[in-house]
Amino acid sequence: MPNSGPYTIAIDGPSGTGKSSTAKELAKRLHIDYLDTGAMYRCLSLKAKDTGIQPGDAERLAPLAATLEFLFPEPGTVILNGVDVSKAIRTPEVSGRVSVDCAIPAVREVLVDRQRAYGLGRSCVLDGRDIGTVVFPHARFKFYVDCDPRVRAKRRVAELAAMGHKADYDEVLSNLLERDHLDSTRAVGPLRRAADAIVIDTSDISFEQQVERILSVVRAGI
Ligand code: DC
Repeated sequence: MPNSGPYTIAIDGPSGTGKSSTAKELAKRLHIDYLDTGAMYRCLSLKAKDTGIQPGDAERLAPLAATLEFLFPEPGTVILNGVDVSKAIRTPEVSGRVSVDCAIPAVREVLVDRQRAYGLGRSCVLDGRDIGTVVFPHARFKFYVDCDPRVRAKRRVAELAAMGHKADYDEVLSNLLERDHLDSTRAVGPLRRAADAIVIDTSDISFEQQVERILSVVRAGI
């Protein structure tokens, strides 16, 4: 018999696989909440950059993480300490340091706690790297979204162009591979597939197909 009550959908995978867009769409269609956990780490890096904290400075970053006030009024909008930073957290400067900042164990401890608090008692979809393994290891639905790095790099160049940033494909690809490496080799909360996660490879399928595959699993289980 399908389960009732609040449920969690955990979506993990490397950057640029389309998991955030997929998660947003799922939240809309299922009428549940959405938390972009990567946005939290990006907010920390943005604030650190603006206050002159060096990338990876554990002593200053962990206390800073505890002071951040987040609001997510709607999917795609991030309010940090009362300011809309939705665009500012996606710049190359922030992307360039976030993998280093987010690898600090004390930083992860603070932000994972806040992600758990957000997801408690409500149906929601969260996307990140460690949602199905660390944040919500008992999530009712777990997906691992993967994609060929070359396809991801192409998509990223297009995304940056849409935001007015001109980017070189080779540079984007090498940054992406470096981030994958940092994200999957860190000591705490590394990117990896939970043993019970369903793998969705998005290299050759459309956005609509990605959404439909996940939706069909979730609808059958709720
Ligand atoms: O998904 P994204 O590119 O916005 O994530 C930004 C960074 O945060 C990226 O380096 C991976 C990291 N991250 C993480 O370590 N754990 C999460 N749950 C989400 C993101």
